[in-house]
Amino acid sequence: MSKLAQELVQTPEGYFYHESAYVDEGSVIGEGTKIWHFSHVCPGAKIGRNCVIGQGCYIGPGVVIGDNCKVQNGNSLYEGIVLEDGAFIGPHCAFTNDRNPTAIDTRTKEEWLEHTLLKKNCALGAGTVVRCGITIGEGARTGAGTLVVKDIPDGELWVSKALPAEPMLTS
Ligand SMILES: CC(C)(COP(=O)(O)OP(=O)(O)OC[C@H]1O[C@@H](n2cnc3c(N)ncnc32)[C@H](O)[C@@H]1OP(=O)(O)O)[C@@H](O)C(=O)NCCC(=O)NCCS
Repeated sequence: MSKLAQELVQTPEGYFYHESAYVDEGSVIGEGTKIWHFSHVCPGAKIGRNCVIGQGCYIGPGVVIGDNCKVQNGNSLYEGIVLEDGAFIGPHCAFTNDRNPTAIDTRTKEEWLEHTLLKKNCALGAGTVVRCGITIGEGARTGAGTLVVKDIPDGELWVSKALPAEPMLTS
């Protein structure tokens, strides 16, 4: 019998996951939260209640997500990232936790790890790139395609100054 792609398994803890998702032991997930297709929640990650983790997401060790957050498809959240309640991450954003990464690394984690905080009810537009060591203010927003390298104050809307696409060749 074929299965509905939308079918989710309910756990005794009261959260839901798709059978293609990996939810590792040692993660903590709140009641009512839904983890969709092909997503991976690592040990040590904490996700609050009534959140949505979309398709193809990675929630790394030590990541903390509050209640009522929404992480849309294709997001990787790495160690050092904290989302307060009601934070929204649009599809395919990029986060970082090391300002000067190298493939061969002799540094300790304390030397390279930089934290990122998404405060209550903020919303990142699709494809926002967040350099590490950044705070996105309460209720702040970014437009689609924004590159964030400075803290965004509470309630403000920021967009990158890169010019939006315009026609170049027309028929
Ligand atoms: C930033 C945003 C909120 C502005 O919406 P808006 O007020 O309706 O904006 P408008 O379409 O009227 O555009 C106003 C101006 O901002 C510019 N602009 C709009 N969005 C922009 C963006 N993401 N980056 C840079 N400039 C942007 C427009 O080019 C226009 O400039 P102009 O006046 O020089 O022509 C919206 O465009 C946006 O990016 N929303 C995020 C959508 C998203 O990612 N959702 C994720 C879940 S699906």
